Amino acid sequence: MPVEGVFRVSVLTVNLAENSYEIVIERGALASLGRRCRTVGLKGMAAIVTNPTVAGLYGAAVTESLQSVGFSVVQIVIPDGEEYKNSTTLNRLYDDLLEAGVDRSSFVVALGGGVVGDVAGYAAATWLRGIPFVQVPTTLLAQVDSSVGGKTGIDHPKGKNLIGAFYQPRLVLIDVSTLKTLDQRQFRAGLAEVIKYGASVNLPFFEYIEENIAAILAMEPDILIEIIRRSCELKAHVVELDEKEAGLRAILNYGHTLGHAFEALSGFSGLVHGEAVALGMVLAAKISAAEGFCSPEDVSRIHALIVRCGLLVEIPPYDRQHLLNAIAADKKSKGGTITFICNQGIGMYAMSHHTPEELLLLSGLEA
Ligand code: NAD
Ligand code: GLY
Repeated sequence: MPVEGVFRVSVLTVNLAENSYEIVIERGALASLGRRCRTVGLKGMAAIVTNPTVAGLYGAAVTESLQSVGFSVVQIVIPDGEEYKNSTTLNRLYDDLLEAGVDRSSFVVALGGGVVGDVAGYAAATWLRGIPFVQVPTTLLAQVDSSVGGKTGIDHPKGKNLIGAFYQPRLVLIDVSTLKTLDQRQFRAGLAEVIKYGASVNLPFFEYIEENIAAILAMEPDILIEIIRRSCELKAHVVELDEKEAGLRAILNYGHTLGHAFEALSGFSGLVHGEAVALGMVLAAKISAAEGFCSPEDVSRIHALIVRCGLLVEIPPYDRQHLLNAIAADKKSKGGTITFICNQGIGMYAMSHHTPEELLLLSGLEA
């Protein structure tokens, strides 16, 4: 891991042949964005896509960094919130790209959380049949998950992320200092995705989170860099083995099958994504135990860590039929059966196949 300058910097590579790229994790990384875009060969105009919240906080720093190495810059602001991750926002974004003269020699900079990253990435994937893009994630969730791996897209009224493309960024630049302005709720929601990696694929990482939870919640920069680095490393490894989710990549959906259902039932506003995933992991652990993949002690340990992160663990009293319908809408549902990701012990995954009804029974929600 190379070390540069005053602050520690971690540089990881996502090895995907001609689509390979680096993930740079550093305090104060925004200042190096322009230089690093040059290094990866980007040219022309930089179209920063962001939202009003993040534009106000980091738009100027990002613009300055890009201009300092000679890029011309245009900033395009899309509305803030999951409810705007849709075709209306995307079409307005295309209009703005056209008006700004963003051509094939230009590139997109996605500056924000997972919503901005997914929408801007999908616009980059489809505008003029694809122009390069750079991910500059500013939420913990986006830094440990959504900015890495090339899933881009928008929601459809009938379901989340139903429209999208696999389209890898040219660079992921993670400035952990941006987390200072993130509210506690969003920070804790991001921790759900961090726990996901530990619980489903890496016991030493799960133990590291358990041991360092106080420092993590106190947002100690070196510890943040470490959990982001280890999360990105684990994700990159899975993506390298299965970029287009032929099979293995589904393990990254640990906690997400039921999590997505809870998120949908909360109207995409009552629960934020990471909170819904935390609830999904509580039940995934119970289902894993019911199937004999893990012990009741493992379930308690996963539950306890989620509680220590300050995340919700009580499932709201959803209507049974609404819940079944929401689970059945899962993208991974085939012929009424869902591939469900379990934890085997802690730190390993197992896959099982169930109908929504079976999942409700195994989770104990219907006991
Ligand atoms: P988000 O993008 O809505 O951001 C959460 C809130 O934080 C927003 O209000 C945003 O304006 C604000 N914000 C962002 N950075 C900030 C900062 N540094 N300081 C202050 N406020 C800041 O939510 P999210 O949790 O980042 O992302 C959730 C989205 O990511 C969902 O749409 C989900 O489907 C998607 N996702 C995608 C992938 C993928 O692989 N592509 C993976 C996981 C999640
Ligand atoms: N967040 C799941 C994936 O990237 O595959």
